[in-house]
Amino acid sequence: MSEPKKYRHWQLSQDEHNITWLSIDVADREVNVLSYAVLEELSDIVLEIRNNGACTGVVFISNKPSGFILGADVKEISQVEDPNEAVDFMHKAQILFSMIEALRIPVVAAIDGLCLGGGLELALACHYRIASDASGTQLGLPEVKLGIHPGFGGSVRVLRLLGIFQGMNFILQGRNVDAYAAKKMGLVNDVVALRQLRRAAIYFIQHQPKKTVKTARWSTLLLEPPLLRSIVTGFLVQGLKKKVKQDQYPAPYAVLGNWVEVGALKEKAFAEEAASVGRLILTPTCHNLFRVFSLQEKLKEKAKGGEFKVHHIHIIGAGVMGGDIAAWCAVQGLQVSLQDPSPQALGSALARTYTLAQKLLKRKHLIEAAMDRLCPDPQGYGLSKADLILEAAVENLAVKHEIFKNIDLKAKDSAILATNTSSLSLSEIAAVLKNPGRLIGIHFFNPVSKMPLVEVVSAEKTDPKTALCGAIFVKQIKKLPLPVRDGHGFLVNQILGGYFEAGFKALETGQSLNAVDKAGRNLGMPMGPIELADRVGLDVCLAAAPYLMPASSEKALTALQAKVQQGELGYKTQKGFYRYSGEKLIREKDKDTVNSASLKKIQRNLFLSMLSRALICLETQIVSGVDELDAGVIFGAGFPPFRGGLLQYAKTFDKNELAKDLADYRKIEITALEKDSAWQQLWAIG
Ligand code: NAI
Repeated sequence: MSEPKKYRHWQLSQDEHNITWLSIDVADREVNVLSYAVLEELSDIVLEIRNNGACTGVVFISNKPSGFILGADVKEISQVEDPNEAVDFMHKAQILFSMIEALRIPVVAAIDGLCLGGGLELALACHYRIASDASGTQLGLPEVKLGIHPGFGGSVRVLRLLGIFQGMNFILQGRNVDAYAAKKMGLVNDVVALRQLRRAAIYFIQHQPKKTVKTARWSTLLLEPPLLRSIVTGFLVQGLKKKVKQDQYPAPYAVLGNWVEVGALKEKAFAEEAASVGRLILTPTCHNLFRVFSLQEKLKEKAKGGEFKVHHIHIIGAGVMGGDIAAWCAVQGLQVSLQDPSPQALGSALARTYTLAQKLLKRKHLIEAAMDRLCPDPQGYGLSKADLILEAAVENLAVKHEIFKNIDLKAKDSAILATNTSSLSLSEIAAVLKNPGRLIGIHFFNPVSKMPLVEVVSAEKTDPKTALCGAIFVKQIKKLPLPVRDGHGFLVNQILGGYFEAGFKALETGQSLNAVDKAGRNLGMPMGPIELADRVGLDVCLAAAPYLMPASSEKALTALQAKVQQGELGYKTQKGFYRYSGEKLIREKDKDTVNSASLKKIQRNLFLSMLSRALICLETQIVSGVDELDAGVIFGAGFPPFRGGLLQYAKTFDKNELAKDLADYRKIEITALEKDSAWQQLWAIG
């Protein structure tokens, strides 16, 4: 047998059963991605295999510890300027994957770790897919989150494999599933322990079992006639409209459009898929969502440049935040000791940990292991052993001072000290420490399990190495670290303060609750400002008003105060500006319909108010740059990803008109705004 040819991104080897093992290990990358060069090499390899009469089967496997294949090369795709170039690339990949599918010998994808986007599309072209049972094994087609949809034939093959309803749901939601869920859906043929993965692949090649999973693929055959397709699509579009608007997120609508146009069974479905990606790739949504992806990568980079690992975290305060942070850390594999004088708070935190572990870890032994990692510690014994100590007790400087005096006495010298405060000054808290440079803010958002961002706060004296350790810890627990400087409300709450302030101002001018909140949602925010204030708690809003809503009028503050005095604190008391029935917000109908000009004006003011705050945060260097600011508002404040960020959105307007509106809103001269360095910074970047 001749020596196998050498490739840059793939390693080929033939075993004693004459099975070709095709190991992907993309050169110069931490993760495997299907770039143009990687696919070109694969094309040569497939031809080589086709001509090798002795080969009895092929196994795709990864040589990287970071997972199987994470998708196409997003950076490469985001640089495409000509849609024809994108279509051409999709066609080439489709032809290659069809060649793999057409091989006369069995082909297996042996999947361990992440198998996403183009990686899953490749696996779908294989005859069998076997997944390891490791918790890191996840399969998904997240392309809609980038404003496109699968383009290597995946959107066609998924429908053929899973049936219309399950397949469409899987593509439209862009959500990952673990190995067991993938098996249940019929996406993989088997789930095995990692140590058995190779053996299972050999078994599948040698035995070629027929029906290993049950799916609803019959629905794809049954619903192929055009009339049935259009009826079903109408039904699916209704469901989709409740989740996303077509003008904001066109990709999921395009997936449905492709199917209604050509179905999923004929070859032309592939051509339609590629053409559709070509149409989507130059839309503003796609451009902005690629930006969001790159912002996310940029935040992950903030954790680079040092070595630090938390094995044990000690959390002080087991309330809303401390309890949920403890739960998250335990589920992420950290040893957690949780200190609080209140047994009820500790009990509630344990119960919430169990619920979260059930939701995320699913399997009994993993849930039990997570519960074993969380230790209720009313006496604070864990304090002296922890690598990181996070204070999340009540928002009261005197209480925090007492806690940090005790920490200073007992913590290991190497331990990182952190506070979750959202409104107190870091420098003031640190004043009681022997070395104030040891303290950082690690500011989580509520609800902890859902919010991807964590602000890592540095005060004037904070040691930059400590801040870096904070960022590394945040990345370790699979959150996105945003370094910010100390200052009231840091970045995210300052921006949200602007949102609230403009919302209350609109109410004062006689606009209805429904109109104000609708304007916020029209902007693309997940909730209007008043709904959000109700969710946060009106008592919390009132306490933060002096620095987060400094321009609020007496009248607005009095209205807020009255609600608080009456015990109407919002969602948590089931009554605030709105009434609630459990989770459900009860909306009273307005007597008069609101005209669209008024709605647009409110929307404009909500945006201007947030923009004004953003420029102040840039000017005062609360955040280091335009990208970091946009990342903060998207991942922390819920600013709509399809707009690419607050500042990115600002740049879609005419500069002079925006300057005039913003100066009017701030009640300053345009010339003063034009001299503002943050305003200049905004327009300096292309
Ligand atoms: P909370 O009132 O729900 O919980 C505070 C907990 O601290 C209580 O369980 C209390 O028993 C405990 N506690 C009081 N004194 C203590 C002491 N000496 N030692 C240990 N535990 C003590 O408060 P929440 O909302 O969890 O806030 C905690 C911190 O997190 C605050 O600094 C707050 O500003 C910050 N934060 C709150 C957010 C929220 O949405 N609630 C969001 C982000 C930050």
